[in-house]
Amino acid sequence: MKESNSDFSYNKLTANILISSPSARVLCHLDCAEVILWHIRGRKRAYLYDLTKREFATEQTIEQVIMRETEEEIPYKPEWDEAAYVYDLEPGQAVNWPHFWPHRIDNIEGLNVSLQTEFYSAKGLRQYGVRFANGILRRKTGVAPNSTTTNGFVGLAKVGLGLVSKKLGLYKPVEREITARFTIGPEQIGSIKQLNQSVQNVLEK
Ligand SMILES: [Fe+2]
Repeated sequence: MKESNSDFSYNKLTANILISSPSARVLCHLDCAEVILWHIRGRKRAYLYDLTKREFATEQTIEQVIMRETEEEIPYKPEWDEAAYVYDLEPGQAVNWPHFWPHRIDNIEGLNVSLQTEFYSAKGLRQYGVRFANGILRRKTGVAPNSTTTNGFVGLAKVGLGLVSKKLGLYKPVEREITARFTIGPEQIGSIKQLNQSVQNVLEK
């Protein structure tokens, strides 16, 4: 991508292979990082919700996702789809969307295989940093910052505060608990076993 766009930059690049069944769906959510979804096999439909058109996610929600206090999933209303950008992905196609835009994915056909790359552009890193700093200030000082600008002295100072605090682990948010609710049954293809609370606790240790 850098060859076709010399301004393109990335940090913290990670990639994951996603394998999912023909009828699987990814519920509406937003990601901390910027994402490119490279589709390899099967067909899937991506719904993208433009934050510049409507407040599909509030700044408070984005901040809570960045602070990892809530799941990345966000409240969704079916009528949003009228305003969504909708793309049907065939193998060999890719889609990406502006940072923090809510999105959801429905598989349409076949076993689906995709490669998801996550990264932060220079701008994306600043957008992340300023929101992390806002989160710290709101939770630790009683200040209620509502600006997410990364310009000017205050904006730059907040970006620095957010990124340095995150890097050095100076602020540990009260993170959401991630619990396993089921496991697959190896004795039969497609079988799922619900986990009770005691088993869940063992898995978390
Ligand atoms: Fe996502």
